[in-house]
Amino acid sequence: MKVSFKDLGLVNTREMFAKAVKGGYAIPAFNFNNMEQLQAIVQACAETKSPVILQVSKGARNYANQTLLRYMAQGAVEYAKELGWKRPQIVLHLDHGDSYELCKSCVDFGFSSVMIDGSALPYDENVALTRKVVNYAHKHDVTVEAELGVLAGVEDEVSSEVSHYTKPEEVIDFVKKTKCDSLAISIGTSHGAYKFKPEQCTRDPKTGRLVPPPLAFDVLKAIEKKLPGFPIVLHGSSSVPQEYVDIINANGGKLPDAVGIPEEQLRKAAKSAVCKINIDSDSRLAMTAAIRQHFAEYPGHFDPRQYLKPAREEMKKMYEHKILNVLGSNGKAR
Ligand code: G3H
Ligand code: 13P
Ligand code: ZN
Repeated sequence: MKVSFKDLGLVNTREMFAKAVKGGYAIPAFNFNNMEQLQAIVQACAETKSPVILQVSKGARNYANQTLLRYMAQGAVEYAKELGWKRPQIVLHLDHGDSYELCKSCVDFGFSSVMIDGSALPYDENVALTRKVVNYAHKHDVTVEAELGVLAGVEDEVSSEVSHYTKPEEVIDFVKKTKCDSLAISIGTSHGAYKFKPEQCTRDPKTGRLVPPPLAFDVLKAIEKKLPGFPIVLHGSSSVPQEYVDIINANGGKLPDAVGIPEEQLRKAAKSAVCKINIDSDSRLAMTAAIRQHFAEYPGHFDPRQYLKPAREEMKKMYEHKILNVLGSNGKAR
């Protein structure tokens, strides 16, 4: 049986993005795979009154089951209200959809937004696939994110050795032909906790930490110029907080030279046409750091609630920090 996202209390991204572009801030797009992550996201967004995009990846669907995740997102709306958030602005989004069939099934199942990631396809095939998804999704008022340009690293099944920046000269034609609602671009970000190889970075002589090269803001600017006011999306935008990396490494973990996107660059992007910033790895790091630290302090604990509670608290702190200090989305969904 088909269900509309509207019956679940969810919203699509249309109005949310229009406001974000105009207001010079970005909407957080947080991936979730389990209850603790979702609780932390909802608590952080309810407290800060931030609109939010809950993202479901292929990995999440394999891990947690798509049906369960959808009902959890529906529950998130009710939970948000219970926390005193009168009008929660929550989007349920398919992250990196890789086929028309998958996007269609998510639209039919109550998702309010889908991404069709045709970025690894030849240009014309990406256009055709995206257009097909948009045709179906728009009939149901579901918004569609597309991608042009390939991020380095692994994007579910989509992989590329090198980062191919989005070509500004292609974006007008792509958006016109596909009628997509937002566009994910490649300007040097990538997925995961190792966004740059040490040889791509310099080292801070004082701390010995890797300093990554800057994002290609010139490419972003050129895209903005071609598509004034059009919603742009940044994937791979975790900053890989070094405090978490240090805690993990000090407590039996091994994450050598993990490095992310410096927050000041994300702050700068959020003030531009970038209106959706994807963060997944930072949540994984927050959770792992808290759990490793907990086990080091309390080796006798074996009730998952004992170590998942501090993990949830750490994730909530991290989400709040992003909303308040990086994206500027606080107070935008009262
Ligand atoms: O796009 C990448 C996201 O971080 C999701 O990753 O497929 O391992 O859940 P995942
Ligand atoms: P990170 O790995 O940087 O958190 O990126 C997540 C992402 O882009 C999900 O689509
Ligand atoms: Zn992504």
